[in-house]
Parts: sequence; structure tokens; C-alpha cells
Amino acid sequence: MENKIEEIRKIFLEFFNKKKHKIIKESSLIPYNDSSLLFTNAGMNQFKEYFLGYKKSPYSKIVTIQKCIRIGGKHNDFQNVGFTNRHHTFFEMLGNFSFGDYFKKKAIFYAWELLTDSKWFNLKKKKIFITVYYKDIETYNIWNKIIGIPKKNLILIEDKKNQKYNSDNFWQMSETGPCGPSTEIFYDLGDHLKGDIKNNLGNRFIEIWNIVFIQFNKTLNGELIPLIMKSVDTGMGLERITSILEGVDSNYKIYFFKNIIQEIANLIKIKNLEHNSLKVIADHIRSTIYLIAEGIIPSNEKRGYILRKIIRRAVNHGRILGEKKPFFYQLVKVYIKYINNNEKNFLNKKINLITNIIKNEEEKFNQIIYSGIILLNKELKKSGNNYLTGKQIFYLYDTFGLSLDLIQNICINKKISINKEEFVNYMEIQRQKSKKKNLFNNKNNFYYKNNISKFNGYKNFTTYSKVLDIYIDKTSKNKINLEEQGEIILDITTFYGESGGQKGDIGYLEKDKKNIFQVYDTKKQGNIIIHIGKMILGSLQKNDYLHANIDILHRMMISKNHSATHLLHAVLRKKFGTYVKQKGSLITDKYLRFDFILNNSLKLDDISYIEKKINGYIFENIPIKIDTEEKKEIKNKKNIIALFENKYSSFVRIVNIKKISQELCGGTHVENTGKISLFIITKFLNIANGIKRIHAITHNIALKYIQKQNKNIKYISSLFNTNEDYLIQNILLYKKKFSLLKQNFKELQQYFLLKEESILFKNKILLKDINIIISKIYDINPIFFNVILKKILKKLNKVIIILSTKWGKKIFFIIKTTKNINNKINILDVMKRNLDKNVCNINGCANIVKGSIDLTIDQYYFILSKIRTFILDKVNKLN
Ligand code: ALA
Repeated sequence: MENKIEEIRKIFLEFFNKKKHKIIKESSLIPYNDSSLLFTNAGMNQFKEYFLGYKKSPYSKIVTIQKCIRIGGKHNDFQNVGFTNRHHTFFEMLGNFSFGDYFKKKAIFYAWELLTDSKWFNLKKKKIFITVYYKDIETYNIWNKIIGIPKKNLILIEDKKNQKYNSDNFWQMSETGPCGPSTEIFYDLGDHLKGDIKNNLGNRFIEIWNIVFIQFNKTLNGELIPLIMKSVDTGMGLERITSILEGVDSNYKIYFFKNIIQEIANLIKIKNLEHNSLKVIADHIRSTIYLIAEGIIPSNEKRGYILRKIIRRAVNHGRILGEKKPFFYQLVKVYIKYINNNEKNFLNKKINLITNIIKNEEEKFNQIIYSGIILLNKELKKSGNNYLTGKQIFYLYDTFGLSLDLIQNICINKKISINKEEFVNYMEIQRQKSKKKNLFNNKNNFYYKNNISKFNGYKNFTTYSKVLDIYIDKTSKNKINLEEQGEIILDITTFYGESGGQKGDIGYLEKDKKNIFQVYDTKKQGNIIIHIGKMILGSLQKNDYLHANIDILHRMMISKNHSATHLLHAVLRKKFGTYVKQKGSLITDKYLRFDFILNNSLKLDDISYIEKKINGYIFENIPIKIDTEEKKEIKNKKNIIALFENKYSSFVRIVNIKKISQELCGGTHVENTGKISLFIITKFLNIANGIKRIHAITHNIALKYIQKQNKNIKYISSLFNTNEDYLIQNILLYKKKFSLLKQNFKELQQYFLLKEESILFKNKILLKDINIIISKIYDINPIFFNVILKKILKKLNKVIIILSTKWGKKIFFIIKTTKNINNKINILDVMKRNLDKNVCNINGCANIVKGSIDLTIDQYYFILSKIRTFILDKVNKLN
């Protein structure tokens, strides 16, 4: 069989390039600045702002090939993957886009030409079926009347029952954002297969291309706001079109997957190449590799959690095929063998990191499975039957990540039956619960109208602005009154909205000095900058003009910390190599936090080195320059760190610290390194496998920190009667002395106890086969009572013991009887009868009583002798 995948990629780009589409690089799998999406799920994601009209695209027609992940969120195929011929967690999408340029007719013409023309893909026209959104008569007519698709091959798709715009032919990027009716192109594999396009069933018809006519912005309350510009967004699954052109009936049979599946089968020694578990593994290794390549690490949160789920699902399927040892990691190099040179070059740089992370995760998961199986056996023992309830299965599934398939497999081998139905119910409850608290569906952030706020606060700290909108409790209002909390949107502002890890500005919005809104945070949502705060004087209305004044000191501290973050990033890369990459950062006015990928462990010496290097740069007072350049200009400048290197935009801001660092960045900075004044690392930790975190402070906060540390050291030195120079030496000496003392103390204690034991034994009274031991009053810590008791109880088995000590101002005592006595003599009773509640504090039960008493030794002796007589009397009376 011929491998056609590369040729198809080339043809697609060439075709649309000939139609004057600009070829643009794909975006990262992690959407930039978009909280509505966890992963890039379609080619159009990177152009969201163009579709919504927030930004103007420099090209009105674009073509791309985009890597996509579909797990979680609106387009979620996870559970299907491996069990159908078409679904993937990771796939590539071929797409052409028009931003206010061509619309329905041309989009359809292009698709038709590429698919059916003999110069291009040359598919048989008769085999093509089309679906159209039931309200989109225009599209129906284009297909039918102009292209000539017979009515029997044209299918109208309605909304799902009672759910407006919820249809397979109304495409939405996520719960909110760009959307519109779509028309989908299907290919008929022949009537030897079963299939139903309308209900999306069977293997006969493959959906190959989706053409979406983007016309609306969907807001959270389900409202569709018409967009000024009509656009086109299309997506064709690369693996699907390849399967048709390679003449196979499943994506998993194309040249590329066939080879990978064969290698997996060889690796885990399995003969049946049709086994669904092989498909699962072949698919999952791709998403795993690319997610790790993007810097994601398996964890229990957000993206890391999804990655963990993928790896675990693959490992579970490995187990179904009988592979119990880590194997998945070995597929990294297998996968790289079958991809094109560009991808090879990209992945080869990270192959060791990716392989190690997977291996580590597999080993951890195998350990968990092992504990899970032990638990499964325990559960069975507990319930005493050969049957697992839905709840028990859910527990194993949820807590240990054992898949239902795997549990089923184990159970079949052990002849255990399971209640799958009950389990499915539990799953559903869980699904509903997690839907409610869906982390990724940032519902609260989408009630703003499509305003645009301009930021002019890089150099200015105050500006004159107009109030565009006021939100109180997420609702747009005309006015905000005194004491009310709310959010204000301005046309232009000096307030930096939190983004790229940099915290938002604080300050005041002030009109005529009589109306003041205190801003205690600023956020950014798309192109809107949101001032969050409270009216502390007067009121404000929509269309008012006011002064937007940021808190300059707060901003200066943030800028210092931001510039320091760039220095830190640069120094880390210099010291440990350019693979060191930022994973996350937080820049506040108080401190900076920086997470990064690093395989080595960080040592104290490394921290000193980093501090020294950065402070060196600070003392050199190096200018920090901001340049704006066209993106294409900087593409070849390899030394620029571009954290969101795939973000498509025509201009970028570059922060240049001469000869030290060049980073694409939208944040605020100081004009020269000298302004940072001082840089101190306060914490460094390992937060996940291969990811380190550094906390650092600058300027006067760093100075205060050092002063405090210095003061503490001086104080500690005085406690040790020494000076700072000898402090460590002294502490080490004290430690040594302390362990020596501990040793001596232990020996003494042993000696004392031995002595005590023999005295106690000597003084014991044997009455009616009961040993009665009453100690003198010690002056030892009552914590020793237990040791003495243990020693005695080891030797005597029918005994009443009373131990007492004077410790501090009180007398402490303990009374113990062996179990064989307490039904005859209840000592709690005995003590209660003989002790005055006002001076005594006792607690315990029939065979052990502890307490303390506020009496002099003489007074206590007197009581003790009473108790002694009482006990002897009781024992005497026993039969
Ligand atoms: N964005 C459309 C899809 O993903 C083309 O199906």
C-alpha cells in the first residue's frame, strides 16, 4: 500500500495557495489566552479573534494544517477512540478560512473541486453525500442546483429535540464563541457496509469535511449575537481523507497506523492485529507525545489530568492485551520513525524527556493498579461473595484509575461477576457532578458585550477615558452608585489587565474628584479590560468621562518583578541549557513565582549562583528596550524566547535586555535592570516530575527580607553565645552534644527503670493470688509511667499497680489492674470514692485510671494509704 499522507498535506496547501490563501503555521495545542478551551480542538481556534471581529486578520484567506486534541470540553471523542474506525484523541485538521472574504458559494465550490476534480483528489461524485442545517436553504440550493448533487444524496439535519442550535450541523467552537450553520461532506464506502448519515451510525459513510459558515458569537446565556463579518471555517480530517485515498475502510488501516499497530503488536507479542486495544494504544501514543512536547506533565489538574487519563487508558489496554510491564514509553521512538522530517526534528530534541516522563508515569500507575487489585480482592473478601457491586467498581475505577475493561478482565479470570449497569449509573452521577463544576467552562467570564478597550498604560499612568459599560452582578447597568461593587469597561485605559502571569493593576477611576471608583483588580477578557472594584465616592454612569489613574508604586513593583522574571529565565537557560522552558509564572507586586522544566535537581549552590548572576546584571544597570516587530521578521531569530511561539499575530512586542534576554512579552517592565535593585530567591521546590518552582523577591521587599534574616541570625547567634561567623560550627557542635546527651539519657533511664523494677517487685504484696504494687512518690516525668507499667505487666499477669510522681506543682498518678481483676475491683470506682473532686482531676475506665491532684506530698500520702487499705480490704473480701 502506498503512503499518501504527506502528498495529501502538500496537495491541500497547494490547492488553497493557488486560490490565494496564505499558508500559515499551525498554532500550539494549548490555546493562547483563551479560557474557554483546554486544548486546540480545531484549525479555527487561533483565529477566534478575527472571526469575532476583535482584530483584523492581515490576510482575508488562510490555509493551515492544525494538530488537534479532542478530549474533554465540547468536542469529546475519548471513550469512542479505538472502538470506531474514525475517532482519535489526536488528529490533524486541514482547513481553509475566509474572514469576510468569500462565503457559502465559493467555499462549497472549492471543496467540490479539490475532492472531485481529476487534477486533485478525483473522488467519485456519485459517492458523495451532503448534510445541510435544516434552516440553511441557501446552502441546500447551492449543492442541489449549482453543483448538481441529487436530492437523494442531500440530507437536512435538524436541531436535537427541543434544543435550539444544538445540531450536528450547527458548529460551535466551545460553549461560547464563534459559531454557525455547517454543511458536511460524506463519502460512501459502499453498500456492503451498514450506515445511517442522519443518525451518525455505522461505518458506511465517512464524514470527511465540515464547512462552517461562521455568523454568530454565542454568549453564555445561549444568545447568538450576529457578527458584522461573515466568515468561513472548514476542517477536513487528514487521517480520514487519507483512508479514502489509500483505499482502506478505517483510519487505523492507513499506511501510517498500520505500521505503528504492527510494531505495537510485535512489542507486546500479540497476533490479532484487529484488536481494538491496539488501536487505542496507537492513537494514545500520539496525543501523549505531543502533549508532553508542549510542556504538559501528568498531574491531577486540568491538562495534566487529561494527559494522565490518556496514559492510563493506554496502559489499561496494554494489560488487556496481557502486557503488565511498562511498554508505552517504548512507542515514542516507534512513532517518530513514521513521521515526516520536520516533525522528526522537532520531536527528536525532546525524545528523552518524553520517554522518561511516560515511563515514570507507567511505573507509578502499575503500582497503583497493583494496590487496586489487592483492594479488589479485599472488597471481595469483605462482601464474602464472588460479585462486585456498581459502587465497588466505581471505587476501583475512580480512585485507582482501573478501567472497566480491565476490572472486567480481572473478574472474568477470577470468575467474579460484576454489576455493570449499577456502575454506569454511578458514572452518570459523577459526570453530572463534574459538569456542574466544569473547570474549563469558564462560564462566569462571558457576560461582557463585544467592547474593545485600548491599553495605553505602558508609559502613561493616567489617561482620560469614557465609560463604555458597567456590570453589577454580571448584568450591564447604566449607573453604579456609592458603595456598590462592580466592573467598569473603558474605551482606553492605563490599567494592565491580568495576563501572561502578570497581575492586574490597582488604582482609581475618578471623575471631577467627586466620583471615585476604587479599582482593586484588573482583568482581561479577549479585547476587553475589566476594572473590578467599588464606588467609594459619588457615582458613575455609562458614557461618563473620567481619569483612570493606576497605583504607580504597585505597578513599579510589578514591573521590577516582571523584568526580574526575564533575567531569571535567561540565567536558568544559560546555566542548565536552552531546553529549560517556562511552564508558568506569576508576577505580583510582592513577589514573583516561576515554574520551569528542569531535569536536574536544584541545589543550594545553584540558587546562590543564580542570585549572584542576576544581581550582577542589576548592578550593571543594563537598559531594557521594548521593540515591536513584524512576526515574520523575527521567525529566523532563533535566540528570541517566544513562549507562545505559535500564536498568530502580525506584530509582536519584544523585550530586549541587551545580550542577556530577548522575549516576546506583552507585560510591563522597568527601563533598566538597575531599577530592580536587588533579587533574592526565597523558595525553590519540585512541584511535579521535572518541573521546578522558584519564588523570588526584589527591591525593598528583598532588602527587608535580608534585614529580617540578618536580625534572626544575630539573635540565634546570641542564643548560642557566639557570632555569625561561628554560628554553623556552634550549631553542629550542639547537635553533636545533644545526641550524646540523648544517648546518656537513654542509658540512665534504662538503669533507673531496672532499679525501680526490682524495688517495686520487692515491695509487692501477694494477697489471694493478686499482686499489689504501690510505688513511693517519684520525681520523674509522668510520661515514664507507661514504660514502668509495661515492664511489670510483662512479668505479672494478675496485678494492681499504683504509680505516683510529683512533677511541677502537681502529683500525677496512674492505677492499672489487669483485665482478670477489673470485674472484681473497679478501680475507677475506688478512686472516685477516695478522692475529693475539687482537688483532683481523673479519667479512665475500669482497668486504668490516670489523674493529677493539687495536694502536698503529705496530704497525698495520707490519701494513698487510705486507698491502699481500701484495696487490701476489697481483695481480702474476694472469694
Ligand atoms: N471548525 C470546524 C470543525 O472543527 C470546521 O469541524
